Amino acid sequence: MQVRIAADAPSSVQTGALVVPIFSKESMQGAAQALDTELGGALADITGGEELKGSLCELALVHAKDKPYRRVLAVGLGEKAKFEPYMLARYAGAAVRHLGKRGIKDIAFALPEVVKGAEAAAASFIVEGALNGAIDTTIYQNEPDRAISLEKITILSEGLDKAALEQGAKRGEILGEAVLAARRMALTPANDMTPTHMAQRATELAKEAGLEIDVLDEKRMQELGMGSLLGVSRGSDEEAKMIVLTYKGDPSSDSMLALVGKGLTFDSGGISIKPAENMHEMKYDMSGGAGVIAAMSAIGRLKPKLNVMGVVPASENLPGHRAMKPGDILRAMNGKTIEVINTDAEGRLILADGLCYARKLGATKIVDAATLTGACVVALGHAASAALSNDDAFLEQFLAAAKPTGERYWHMPLYEDYSTAVKSEIADLRNSTGRPAGTLTAGAFLKAFVEDTPWIHLDVAGTAYLDTESAWQAKGPTGTPVRAFVALAEALAGDSGSAKASSNGAALTGVR
Ligand code: BES
Ligand code: MN
Ligand code: ZN
Repeated sequence: MQVRIAADAPSSVQTGALVVPIFSKESMQGAAQALDTELGGALADITGGEELKGSLCELALVHAKDKPYRRVLAVGLGEKAKFEPYMLARYAGAAVRHLGKRGIKDIAFALPEVVKGAEAAAASFIVEGALNGAIDTTIYQNEPDRAISLEKITILSEGLDKAALEQGAKRGEILGEAVLAARRMALTPANDMTPTHMAQRATELAKEAGLEIDVLDEKRMQELGMGSLLGVSRGSDEEAKMIVLTYKGDPSSDSMLALVGKGLTFDSGGISIKPAENMHEMKYDMSGGAGVIAAMSAIGRLKPKLNVMGVVPASENLPGHRAMKPGDILRAMNGKTIEVINTDAEGRLILADGLCYARKLGATKIVDAATLTGACVVALGHAASAALSNDDAFLEQFLAAAKPTGERYWHMPLYEDYSTAVKSEIADLRNSTGRPAGTLTAGAFLKAFVEDTPWIHLDVAGTAYLDTESAWQAKGPTGTPVRAFVALAEALAGDSGSAKASSNGAALTGVR
């Protein structure tokens, strides 16, 4: 997809469709108003009544056959007082999905006047949203049903800072491509996305982004004592992989942020097998790992000044004849023994060794992401991910960096009680407790493997994929937590991208 920033007036832009923003409960402004005058009140006709109220991503199309812009798509941005820059990603995504499915390959976007002063953030969101709106979910279909093939987008810069828009659009392209890469990996079914395939995809992305990569096979895992990860992998013929990506943006520093992701390419539950209903969705159980790989690829391309490592334990969880059994005791890399109460609580088992390995490789801060517990979906639904931590200051920093991205994280507690609950009578830990506080006991289990390293655990079980489509996003993987990971890296580096984008965002919210 080609991205262009153009100083053309809205009425003279050559495109397949021109997208204009409409705030609810406001009179038309900017591009919408200019075009309305040109079109003899056609937009006012729509927004004046019930046809388009301007709620977020609500849309209405007006044809303008003889004009250079051919069509005007009015897209709602909600109430102006509640506007946040990330909504522009949804604005762009909704437009691309609507127009793309109707064969339009060239789309121009007008921006609302409120983005003045925050142009870099605005352009980044537009490009990220447009790229992701155009995801092709039909690659396995012989006769694709309304595939979107977007070739070109234009962002109109009239009255705005063109250089900042250009800079933001570049970041948006890198971030958007990473989010897309994560979503495509997750979308790929488990027969095509095995741990070996995941490692191959990571290798390709690492090459493109100039990252170091090391993929451990089971022999090396054995030598390192990763008995917890190997225990999960025993039930499958597919070899487990530990994927390690390294980015050295600040070679003189000893600090190293580690991103650790659950790469469970298919979770049948193992011997404690899951019910058949919705089991197919467990191909998405590698979303945390895909998020780490994709975020690393964006970080390699954006080049923030810090060191980051991505660690992805990848395995299947199947009930093969050699599979681990309830009651088995595994030994993790740090020597801790784990009583397997339920083979379906496998995510924490593979992460245990992932976290130990990240520390061994020199991690000084760790964030992990995992589709870890069904309990998280019960607690927060699909509206937010859970965030647990052993370090309040680090968590605050993460939450502040993540907020402007549009991904939501909600702080949940890690009381000592939950650590007590995961103690075993026969081993050091047990991998499953009773029903209460399932997300938090899972977090307490992971905490036993990070010792005193500042750490955040993100449970993305309800947010990494959705079983419904929205105006702006196809059903399936969402790309969570890629945006937050990239924003955190930028914030820790304290330089480019979202550090700017977010302070711009804050300025923007203040300016209104
Ligand atoms: N991958 C699942 C968690 C999950 C469930 C993610 C539903 C998304 C949607 C995880 O491996 C799992 O099975 N967790 C168990 C843990 C339990 C056995 C302690 C769960 O949540 O039921
Ligand atoms: Mn499971
Ligand atoms: Zn799982």
